[in-house]
Amino acid sequence: MTDQLGDMRRTGHCNELSKKDLGARVVLMGWVQRRRDHGGVIFVDLRDREGITQVVFNPVHNPEVHEKAHSIRNEYVIAVSGRVEERPEGMLNPNLATGGIEVLVDELKILNRAATPPFMIEDEADASENVRLKNRHIDLRRPKLQNHIIRRHKAAEAARTFLNRHGFLDIETPFLTRSTPEGARDYLVPSRMSPGSFYALPQSPQLFKQLLMVSGFDRYYQVVRCFRDEDLRADRQPEFTQIDIEMSFVGEEDVMAVAEELVAEIFEKAGPGPVQTPFARMTYAEAIDRYGLDRPDTRFGLELQDISDIVGNSGFKLFADAVGKGGVVKAINAKGCAGFTRKEIDDFTDFVAVYRARGLAWIRVREDDWQSPITKFFTEDEKRAMAERLNMQPGDLVFFGADNARVVNESLGYLRVHLGRKLGLIDDSFYRFVWITDFPLMEYDDAEKRYQALHHPFTAPAEKDIDVLESDPAAVSSRAYDLVLNGSEIGGGSIRIHDKDLQVRILETLGMGPAEYQDKFGFLLSALESGAPPHGGIAFGFDRLMAILCCAQSIREVIAFPKTQKGSCLLTEAPSGAAKEQLLELGLRIMRGEEK
Ligand code: AMO
Ligand code: AMP
Repeated sequence: MTDQLGDMRRTGHCNELSKKDLGARVVLMGWVQRRRDHGGVIFVDLRDREGITQVVFNPVHNPEVHEKAHSIRNEYVIAVSGRVEERPEGMLNPNLATGGIEVLVDELKILNRAATPPFMIEDEADASENVRLKNRHIDLRRPKLQNHIIRRHKAAEAARTFLNRHGFLDIETPFLTRSTPEGARDYLVPSRMSPGSFYALPQSPQLFKQLLMVSGFDRYYQVVRCFRDEDLRADRQPEFTQIDIEMSFVGEEDVMAVAEELVAEIFEKAGPGPVQTPFARMTYAEAIDRYGLDRPDTRFGLELQDISDIVGNSGFKLFADAVGKGGVVKAINAKGCAGFTRKEIDDFTDFVAVYRARGLAWIRVREDDWQSPITKFFTEDEKRAMAERLNMQPGDLVFFGADNARVVNESLGYLRVHLGRKLGLIDDSFYRFVWITDFPLMEYDDAEKRYQALHHPFTAPAEKDIDVLESDPAAVSSRAYDLVLNGSEIGGGSIRIHDKDLQVRILETLGMGPAEYQDKFGFLLSALESGAPPHGGIAFGFDRLMAILCCAQSIREVIAFPKTQKGSCLLTEAPSGAAKEQLLELGLRIMRGEEK
């Protein structure tokens, strides 16, 4: 049996005591971080979510309690009552908030015993992520994770307070719904009452927040879960949280201004402190041109340079062919990196291969010459022009990509970030915001043989491009904006289409016929005909924002119960099978092997 609380009432958290409390009688409750038995006095570091206090069991002061303290082990849950005392000279711990005091214990209750934990409850726990996720309830006791979760709470509170103050209404939207396309696969939920029919979990509340504008709730927000069945990465989870916002009677500038103020307030209340507004802006075209990606990390240089005009007619067939076929040749000058070994260069070549690059040409700039398998193909004029454009100096290592623009930009864009990390050019205590604007509205999908919306199909086209919507869809820009922080897309939004006819034209350009768009989006089209105000909004990826605020390597570190890269919860072992009866009730049968 373990002790009941009896008449013990907790005084407060472990971090709250200091010298001003000397002599006070307190009751602390928490977990045993560590017990040290100095062959006489027993010291216990008592831990709760806010910190640690040293509690002392002294055989002279109270032999009975001291005897009981012998049975205490790590992670036992205990309650102690005692007096706050000054630590003796030489016993002070400057690393601890409560390092000047200790509690001399008069009464000890062991509230619960604990099995030996699978790893130490310390920030640098010596355990694989899988072991930690399987024991997440214990993992979450680590001070770092406790801080992340507490900070996340504070950030959500700051966001809500800000939005409430600015007249936004917090309105819930359904989870069991129709598909809300954001470019991922839907999670489907079978309906028992309508066998063979399915709900889709929302990829975002996009359509509902637009409907709320039609209903007149001119400022909406929700801190809301979204569900997307997509390939997972360090910054993606199958369910994640958005701070979702929509406003009526606004243009881009209004939404972006609110978004900046909101982010600034989150940084001030739950982050590193004030940030400078307004944020920088860059068009999509410039981001791709200079950084290769539409979420540029602007904390360091190593920008991409287009040299298609210099090498397009050169004797290097690979470059000339790429340009001849309408592609590009771009380069990155890795300043001072001529010392990289062949093995390292080969590793970079493997790195870009992941992004479909078929190779990675390079030139090492030495004092007297260029060392490279490709130098021989260029004329002196071409070399001079290259050296000037790329600012090539002895000690530099230049990488080249030649292919269609998409492959070159993406592979060199990721290579740039990879190099930036490897070379230590990225300062993680630095915050660089940039709005990306003027996105194309649609992109041609070669595999699907049709246009796809770059954001979602409800994003308004730029007024000036509406005339060429059908004749040249790829040339139409959108009224979308993404907010990028340190190379991570932390938010995105747009001004929406509020005119039914324009919405129909967009859906048709995306390859949908009337039967399909009526079936999928009939409710939206009818809402747009019922008096829809001009409106727009934005959604922030709250997990991504928190990961950056907490300097975490992955968003899993700022989510209490995250899923693995394979989409499973190791703690509960979800997803799991279903009982035959459940499947029967839903009218479902699992197809296996040859039945597929
Ligand atoms: P979007 O699809 O850009 O826009 O999503 C908004 C933000 O959500 C975050 N995000 C994710 N975070 C973690 N895991 C994921 N799988 C994931 N997917 C997206 C990103 C992203 O910037 N309805 C629109 C918003 C709007 O137009 O108002 C939307 O959902 O940080
Ligand atoms: P190769 O002639 O195939 O031996 O290639 C010569 C150099 O060009 C090697 O360093 C390759 O990695 C590089 N290379 C091959 N294809 C490309 C490409 N599409 N873009 C850039 N470099 C390439």
